[in-house]
Amino acid sequence: MKPTPAQRQEHTDRRTELMRRIGRTAVAIVPAAHEAVRARDTHYRFRQNSDFTYLTGFPEPEAIAVLIPGRGDGEFVLFVRPKDREREIWDGRRAGPQGARRLYGADQAWDLSEFETRLPQLLAGREVLHYTLGELPELDARIARQMRHLREVSRRGGAAPTTLVALETTLHEMRLIKRPAEIELMRRAAQVSAQAHVRAMRTTRPGRFEWQIAAEIHAEFEAHDMQPGYGSIVGGGDNACILHYVENDAKLRSGDLLLIDAGGELSGYTADITRTFPVSGTFSAEQKAVYEVVLEAQKSALRQMRPGVSSGKPHEAATRTLTEGMVDLGLLKGKAEALIAQDKHRQFYMHGTGHWLGMDVHDVGRYKMQGRHRPFEPGMVMTVEPGLYIAPGTRSVNRKFWGIGIRIEDDVLINKNGHEILSSGVPKTVREIEQLMAG
Ligand code: GLY
Ligand code: MN
Ligand code: MN
Repeated sequence: MKPTPAQRQEHTDRRTELMRRIGRTAVAIVPAAHEAVRARDTHYRFRQNSDFTYLTGFPEPEAIAVLIPGRGDGEFVLFVRPKDREREIWDGRRAGPQGARRLYGADQAWDLSEFETRLPQLLAGREVLHYTLGELPELDARIARQMRHLREVSRRGGAAPTTLVALETTLHEMRLIKRPAEIELMRRAAQVSAQAHVRAMRTTRPGRFEWQIAAEIHAEFEAHDMQPGYGSIVGGGDNACILHYVENDAKLRSGDLLLIDAGGELSGYTADITRTFPVSGTFSAEQKAVYEVVLEAQKSALRQMRPGVSSGKPHEAATRTLTEGMVDLGLLKGKAEALIAQDKHRQFYMHGTGHWLGMDVHDVGRYKMQGRHRPFEPGMVMTVEPGLYIAPGTRSVNRKFWGIGIRIEDDVLINKNGHEILSSGVPKTVREIEQLMAG
């Protein structure tokens, strides 16, 4: 689909901001993703590289953007696949260099085959090259070759960049703080994903299979022009205790819980939501007791989410509440503080409480500065996802708790006044869930 004027302006603003940050002595090279083979001559559904799409909105594989702040002949240069009647009949439309200029606002655009020959003149006279090494080894080699070539001819005038900086140090700081247009998309992605979880709760019955519930969720995504933003986890019973369970092939049984971790991606931005609910529609006493602890832990974490507070605090708070709960439930013996100091809580809570969320489910942006968790700022989006997982056969624990795996995960935007839960459209308390499933 062609970008709207508003989308074009948004990408222009992002490029302008990146160029302001890297300065006029620099140049940045940002490549698109390549297609990946699924089997023989078929490919996985193409997904554009997040950095590239953030800056250009250009949807085709293999393209390369070069950003050159202050360059007289244009700051935004795109190398793209050429128009090709035959290939377009088989594989789909291509914008070509002309379309790259007309539809995507490139100041200059050329056929990809000209990349190497034109690169030296784009790099010449720039001191710093911003580029992410190691993702596309073939492109690394091509850039290195042209840098070398420039060094050789520099004796005759031109100069090659002398400093290579990882592009993400600048770009990922920008991506970490979401702009209003991004927040709108994330709100919508979370809203539809919440709706998909509601649909899962409504359609779960003993005897249905995990993949059937996954299909309900994915149908809701697709009905809104969305795709899963990561592999959906639909784990009934003991499967809920496998953190990255993706088989989704077991039959659901009455008496078991079902843990669903699924989020849809809308225009490149994903949600990441987990809910856990009883297959039968009613929690058992033990399930409810564990659930209430996890819910309480999520509330403790949420209380820490506001500007200025260390982004390490939600995990500290959730861990504390969970560990106190583990003692109350009889899963652990001792004092919470001492148990945490010895990492004993990790037997039942072995992951972190959140991560940045955005274009990538585990989104970019540094967590620590000078070894310390950075403070929250408006525009950051983080998940809050405490859980407790009591693996079947855990000998130290009463068997009535075996196989209970619970996680509650929401997507939280930090704003001026505190935070906004983007994924609040799906029930979370025991009462709300049982009511919805009864209805
Ligand atoms: N769905 C991946 C995660 O929760 O981190
Ligand atoms: Mn997550
Ligand atoms: Mn998740």
